[in-house]
Amino acid sequence: MISLKESIRVARPVEECFEYTADFRTTPEWDATAFKARKISDGPVGMGSQFVVRCKLPLGSIELLYTITEFEAPNMVTLQVESWLFSAVDTIYFTEENGETRVDYHADFSYKMPFAALEGALKTGMLRMGKSALRGLKRALDDSNAPPKISSGSARADRLLWPGLAMFSKWGYRRGQKRWSPMSASLKGQTMVVTGASSGLGLATARELAERGAELILVMRNPKRAEAVVSELKVETGNSAIRAELADLSIMAEVDALADRLLKAGQPIDVLVNNAGALFNDWGTTSEGLEQSFALLLLSPWRLTRALHPLLKAAGQSRVVNVVSGGMYSQKLRVDRLEAIPENYAGATAYARCKRGLTVVTEEWAKSWEKDGIVVNAMHPGWADTPGVESALPAFHTLTRLILRTPEEGADTIVWLAAASEASAVSGKLFLDREPRTTHLLSKTREDDPEREKLMAFLEGFELETSIAA
Ligand SMILES: NC(=O)c1ccc[n+]([C@@H]2O[C@H](COP(=O)([O-])OP(=O)(O)OC[C@H]3O[C@@H](n4cnc5c(N)ncnc54)[C@H](OP(=O)(O)O)[C@@H]3O)[C@@H](O)[C@H]2O)c1
Repeated sequence: MISLKESIRVARPVEECFEYTADFRTTPEWDATAFKARKISDGPVGMGSQFVVRCKLPLGSIELLYTITEFEAPNMVTLQVESWLFSAVDTIYFTEENGETRVDYHADFSYKMPFAALEGALKTGMLRMGKSALRGLKRALDDSNAPPKISSGSARADRLLWPGLAMFSKWGYRRGQKRWSPMSASLKGQTMVVTGASSGLGLATARELAERGAELILVMRNPKRAEAVVSELKVETGNSAIRAELADLSIMAEVDALADRLLKAGQPIDVLVNNAGALFNDWGTTSEGLEQSFALLLLSPWRLTRALHPLLKAAGQSRVVNVVSGGMYSQKLRVDRLEAIPENYAGATAYARCKRGLTVVTEEWAKSWEKDGIVVNAMHPGWADTPGVESALPAFHTLTRLILRTPEEGADTIVWLAAASEASAVSGKLFLDREPRTTHLLSKTREDDPEREKLMAFLEGFELETSIAA
């Protein structure tokens, strides 16, 4: 048997250290040998929870099954580890000492036959890996990551256009992932609103934020689907603080009613994710007479966020995440064209113009709401395989299926902007794969200041107009 005993000290509460470490989905963030991990049991992390962790071997990789066999939150967790190569018992103790947390990690490995004979030869390497993992865990729990900035490689790719576009695929995600820092901030007690949580990126975002313990308000429009999503997420994650709010977000009366309900409830909002969206291939108007892309993709998030400003401000430090699209790189802000007309209608253009508008709004709000402690950022997910892409862009979906990101990969930067400590250090930026990126790949799409002012005035004015009409 090989025994490992390592200790680290971290200047964080015992509860937070325990919560992060006992959730073994986090292992790829701190153990350099692990590169994939998932929870395979339903419910909260606790007695009997199981995780599958894939680790590198000198040749290939190995799947480890971790089962929690003792769970005394927040002071001790024991995991039984099984694989074809070895069994292990990991026991991790968390003790409060002089305002810090001491983490003692004990692991006993036993190689299976016929590999047991190699134990002596493997011992030094195993102990070295253990030490390195504990250094990684300390770094993760210290949670003192540098503020986000664009890497020189990404900046160069954006300048060269095509390499920049190639990063929209799953390869961009894989490339980005290599540089990411651990995300160990605790979301307990934080209220987060996610729109469009019934499928695709919104659902993946809601699941991950629920796993991390946030209190969730999920905005959906279909009551049956909303009920199913809430109960599925509660079962999967064991997080009971999840509820749905119903609203068709392309209808301003429903947006206003939603905002009124949230304002009446008075719960400060730590994070608002404006994710709901759709690309309409046919021109159409809503029951309120608004062109539907404009209503759903720009006016709706503008109006909801503006209305919820008091609750965002009340949170002290809050974040707004606007989900835009790489498609907006093709369009220049043209305020007089935000509401598409039926003649020569092109759904992708109408969509891209509104997403461009929301990106400019993001930059403007970031400046004017800094004093209120509200950080506002936009992100685009690259190309992700979601029901929305499959139904709106079937040819694109068929052509690119093999290089599309999963919904979870597409949603990663939404979750990171909502959760990571360092993500609140910048505001008014557009992110892809946790990096602030340029808002223009082409110089011809750059708008001037008067056009930006016109946009903000137009949206303000629009609110007055529809309020009067109502
Ligand atoms: N997937 C990508 O590659 C990609 C790329 C760039 C940008 N985006 C953006 O990412 C966001 C999420 O898209 P997705 O790909 O995840 O698509 P999706 O699977 O179709 O999800 C869209 C979500 O928005 C909701 N929604 C649409 N219209 C709504 C309305 N009128 N009222 C309330 N909710 C409404 C949908 O609800 P229902 O289930 O009721 O329809 C669904 O929950 C969108 O803003 C999209 O523009 C996605």
